[in-house]
Amino acid sequence: MQNIQSYHSAFLEHLEAFVQPKEPETLYEPIHYILQLGGKRLRPILTLMTAEIFGCDYKKALNAALSVEVFHNFSLVHDDIMDDAPLRRGQDTVHEKWDVNTGILSGDAMLIMAYQLFENYDSKAFQDLAKLFSKTALEVCEGQQYDVDFETRDDVTIPEYLKMIEYKTAVLVGAAMKMGAIVANASKECQNSIYDFGRHLGIAFQLQDDYLDAFGDPETFGKQVGGDIIENKKTYLYLKALEFSNEDDKLQLEYLYGISPSDPSDKIDTVKQLFVSSGSAEATKKEIETYTIKAFSVLDAIKISEENKAALKAFGNDLMKRNV
Ligand code: IPE
Ligand code: IPE
Ligand code: MG
Ligand code: MG
Ligand code: MG
Repeated sequence: MQNIQSYHSAFLEHLEAFVQPKEPETLYEPIHYILQLGGKRLRPILTLMTAEIFGCDYKKALNAALSVEVFHNFSLVHDDIMDDAPLRRGQDTVHEKWDVNTGILSGDAMLIMAYQLFENYDSKAFQDLAKLFSKTALEVCEGQQYDVDFETRDDVTIPEYLKMIEYKTAVLVGAAMKMGAIVANASKECQNSIYDFGRHLGIAFQLQDDYLDAFGDPETFGKQVGGDIIENKKTYLYLKALEFSNEDDKLQLEYLYGISPSDPSDKIDTVKQLFVSSGSAEATKKEIETYTIKAFSVLDAIKISEENKAALKAFGNDLMKRNV
């Protein structure tokens, strides 16, 4: 297996060839803008790593990896419209830089491009990739809809929240890895186990995303810190804070999650204090670790070398320590 950095650069080189100028510019410029804005490239790296772990040259998986990253970026363009987010990777979001209609159509085109990339595979792999992709993409839509529905509900439970993040985020991490296994023609058993590893890691990843949304460093985080609090997102931080709080704090939190002040800074400060004082911030960190460990235990049952298991574990541990 290569090191992470070499997968990263091979992916960027492949992406570079994909983003050639095209007309109409008003459609393709925003697509190339978001795709070249950076980001961790976590999902495509996982696709390439998995293909090699199951015995195939990672280069064969470059188009599958690109498909996953194009889909991910499509979901971000539409997510930023839905979340009214001004910043992405430290820069203007597509709908801020252009407008909402541009974000909608460029996003639609990206979803189609993501599917189109499977045409680079033979009919068996194409069918398996497309089938997995359709299922995953629909689940992401379901997760995104739950996320929006929860904004205005006051009875969201932790199991409901966990299902929501599994759908909006974790299934794509699982699918990114399973695609690598499909390209490598790994057994169905291996494909499903590696999907489960990615799914658990993806849940930890979204819990961490929610944590950073409140407690990340505005200088480096790249997104608007406090964005989830502004939008009244029913995150693990919020739900655990309600569970751990006394009646007064609980009422205050519930009140704050029912208002949308024009200057949200006081709301954000108070909510963050309650997240910390209730013990919810700490509990969220614990839950991130729990899901990371769950992912590792799935790994124990897969028939791959100890060296490869160690590489996947190192990747999972690095994700837990991330601050962007
Ligand atoms: C952001 O994903 C959206 C989530 C599912 C949390 P990433 O944190 O992977 O975003 P980039 O691609 O690195 O910017
Ligand atoms: C995003 O969840 C999930 C998808 C894009 C499908 P978030 O709304 O938390 O992602 P960020 O924080 O904007 O990146
Ligand atoms: Mg968002
Ligand atoms: Mg969102
Ligand atoms: Mg987020």
